[in-house]
Amino acid sequence: MELAILGGTGDIGEGLAMRFASDTAHTITIGSRDAAKASERARAYEDRLSAHGVETEINGTDNSSAAASADVVILAIPPHHVGDTVEELTEDDVLSDQLLISPAVGMSGDEDGLHYRPPSTGSVTEFVAQQAPDSVPVAGAFHNLAADRLADLEATLDVDTLVVADDPEVSDRVVTLTADLAGVRPIPAGPLSNASEVESLTPLLINIARYNEGMHDVGVTFS
Ligand SMILES: NC(=O)c1ccc[n+]([C@@H]2O[C@H](COP(=O)([O-])OP(=O)(O)OC[C@H]3O[C@@H](n4cnc5c(N)ncnc54)[C@H](OP(=O)(O)O)[C@@H]3O)[C@@H](O)[C@H]2O)c1
Repeated sequence: MELAILGGTGDIGEGLAMRFASDTAHTITIGSRDAAKASERARAYEDRLSAHGVETEINGTDNSSAAASADVVILAIPPHHVGDTVEELTEDDVLSDQLLISPAVGMSGDEDGLHYRPPSTGSVTEFVAQQAPDSVPVAGAFHNLAADRLADLEATLDVDTLVVADDPEVSDRVVTLTADLAGVRPIPAGPLSNASEVESLTPLLINIARYNEGMHDVGVTFS
């Protein structure tokens, strides 16, 4: 399967690229606003994977080209820019039936910590669904994973990630994709209207990390 990670030059994009490249046989393409930056990052990820004993190829190109040839597109983009990115993909006419997955969370910070700031649609995931063409399935996942821990291939993972999608078949596709990541358990959490509850856990986790030594990369597990 062809997996594109737009904004794959950033933190969560890097983490997801490293894990999908090391744990699956999918073809991974890093997308960026700058194709040269994406290529450079892709080479750096390959080198780090190679140092870890994983010989694999990662592609790097601009966001639209990455999405055009993908089956699944992860939008690893800051929340305030994810809408523009989906709009650009639509304008470039590259979206047909690719599955879009949003990990984005709206937050703002003050001296106490981070606070959940969803858009007026209720959540960033629902905003992405609103922006995307009707033919394009949208899901939310990976919101509560810690980028640094994903990117550190020496780190053993034991975390859950919640999956939201309106269509149960779309949810199943995301669960199947994610279940291949060692130590990441995907858990369906209902339709997109439940995304705000999922997204709101992220600032909580970051605040826990801030106020507790040794919990830098804290995640969630449900039992
Ligand atoms: N970091 C985490 O641990 C984590 C965990 C879970 C979820 N998330 C969510 O995942 C999303 C990305 O987080 P991140 O920490 O990876 O962000 P980031 O590193 O700050 O940015 C990711 C990428 O977004 C692209 N970007 C920046 N400004 C843009 C713009 N104006 N338009 C289009 N693309 C732009 C950049 O790629 P180019 O410059 O190459 O285009 C950048 O490398 C956020 O919504 C965040 O809430 C993050």
